[in-house]
Amino acid sequence: MEEYDQFANEYASGTEDLEQTTRNCFYCRLPQLNGKLILDVGCGSGHDAAYYASRGAEVYGVDVSEKEIAMAQQRACGVFEVASMESLPYPSEMFDVVTSLYAIQHAKDVPQSILEMIRVAKPGGVIAILAKHPFRNLLESYVNDGVLDYYAKREVTSYIFNKSIKLIERGHTMMDYLAPSVLQSAQLDLFEEKTDFPASDQVISGLTYPTYMILRYRKVS
Ligand SMILES: C[S@@+](CC[C@H](N)C(=O)[O-])C[C@H]1O[C@@H](n2cnc3c(N)ncnc32)[C@H](O)[C@@H]1O
Repeated sequence: MEEYDQFANEYASGTEDLEQTTRNCFYCRLPQLNGKLILDVGCGSGHDAAYYASRGAEVYGVDVSEKEIAMAQQRACGVFEVASMESLPYPSEMFDVVTSLYAIQHAKDVPQSILEMIRVAKPGGVIAILAKHPFRNLLESYVNDGVLDYYAKREVTSYIFNKSIKLIERGHTMMDYLAPSVLQSAQLDLFEEKTDFPASDQVISGLTYPTYMILRYRKVS
């Protein structure tokens, strides 16, 4: 069973309450969506997909969790299917915009997943990713698991929504997002570091650090 199958309902309701500021920040970094074909990778219950559809986009979404996809399908705002971000079930150069919000840190291979997103984007298309910040990963690894190595390919225990949900995510580094293979296929045209306490657990009280980052790439034409 996929991890999110276990707490799909709790995640969806926590998301509705706590994360809208973060989402709005991400939406503002997207191009105009009216009439565009957009894919949301790791779409969860379809919260963002519904927003993209409300802006006039034709929306596709994939997620590994069958429960999350069933919830997304209930929104009836796009085409949703169970698939992994490491191997997207779409032809190359299909989408104007490819997004992924707080999902790519689950990837077994982050550069490979970004390359998949780039592959399915049209030349000149936008790939926008909101990812858990590697600093947050490292601090959670240190505090929750006692692992002190930034580079270790480790599993990291993470808590969200006032510790109501425990997640196991994979270790990743900044280089995963800036890998030469990625930057040869797409230009990075935006990079931002942000904090979203209390949605993310503040692992050391009083310590402020970036919890997520936004990266926007444009596929080389
Ligand atoms: C933190 S949730 C974010 C969901 C949604 N993007 C949102 O913001 O509400 C992470 C999502 O990534 C999905 N996921 C994890 N590993 C994945 C993979 N390899 N391929 C596609 N989706 C994956 C999970 O099932 C979960 O729905």
